[in-house]
Amino acid sequence: MTQKQTAYLRKEGVVKYTCPSNIAIVKYWGKTDIQIPLNPSLSFSLKHSFTQTSVSYFFDSANKGLRFSFYFEQKKNEKFEQKLSVFFDRITDKFSWLNHYNLKIESQNTFPHSSGIASSASSYAALALCLSKIHQQLTGVELSCEEISNLARLGSGSACRSVFGGWNTWGEFTQKKSSNLHASHLHEHLHASFADIQDTILIVSKDKKEVSSTAGHQLMENHPYKNGRIQQANKNLVTLIEVLKNGDWNGFIEVAESEALSLHALMMSSTPSYTLLLPNSIKIVQLIREFREQNKIPVCFTIDAGPNIHVLYPARNKKEVNEFIQNDLLPYCDDKNFINDELGTGPTEIN
Ligand code: PMV
Repeated sequence: MTQKQTAYLRKEGVVKYTCPSNIAIVKYWGKTDIQIPLNPSLSFSLKHSFTQTSVSYFFDSANKGLRFSFYFEQKKNEKFEQKLSVFFDRITDKFSWLNHYNLKIESQNTFPHSSGIASSASSYAALALCLSKIHQQLTGVELSCEEISNLARLGSGSACRSVFGGWNTWGEFTQKKSSNLHASHLHEHLHASFADIQDTILIVSKDKKEVSSTAGHQLMENHPYKNGRIQQANKNLVTLIEVLKNGDWNGFIEVAESEALSLHALMMSSTPSYTLLLPNSIKIVQLIREFREQNKIPVCFTIDAGPNIHVLYPARNKKEVNEFIQNDLLPYCDDKNFINDELGTGPTEIN
């Protein structure tokens, strides 16, 4: 046994975290290297859509390298284990104890598969939190939120923003200290109407998307609008931060909808081109715009890399917007499926 192994503070233990997914208003699209974003992004963390992950660890003197198993909703998931191997390869230099412990990772989500909620964001962030806690228990060294966010990024880019609650940026831009390596919490005092923002997610289709985000990011490499997109995102981010401070819902709506449709326009103009939006997604977009125009209620949409629509509005308009969703939008959803969510306060450790 090496000296390093005997120095670990514990032989075994279990850690458990819940960690939310997040929804980007200014979207990250395209990357270099290992999840270094082409452009900065800004998102908020959700409240009810989260992953709960527990990691049990025990010391095994016979271990010569990483050993782990992954269970999703009580079932062994070998496909995700393969993805996790890539993630672990990226972090074993930071967590050398991984070579001497067996891990059992068990995970479950509060939201259904392919529901338009980024499960990779909440999963990798929850795992990064668990591993950081184990690191602390074994070595006595506590990682900062930024260091944990950096770890989560190595699993999935947008996961780095899920380590924090509230509103968070990720990626360098001119006017603020923000890093490409980890997310940063927006500490500015935000207007109350953005501190209780609601997000009703309309499930237009539950089918697995035909083109993954990984493939989509790659297509930005030689995209004819790449430079224009980087400029647009930088500009939108600066505008959005002001809008969030001032409570300017008109400004918010402009940025959120332009970002959502630009993301999909980039997919449609990639080579090869592809479309993730469905006819019902477009119908919902039109109905939201009509309702807003007619009722002068600040409600808008954002869309992730899929056909499902996130309806965004302040809590003060919950009643009218929920009625509108029930009566006019749910008929365009798969089996009238939707999820009511809102801004949340971030991960929690479960003791
Ligand atoms: O983190 P990834 O590789 O799953 O990419 C996420 C990209 C978008 O969800 C479309 C935008 C974003 O910033 O979350």
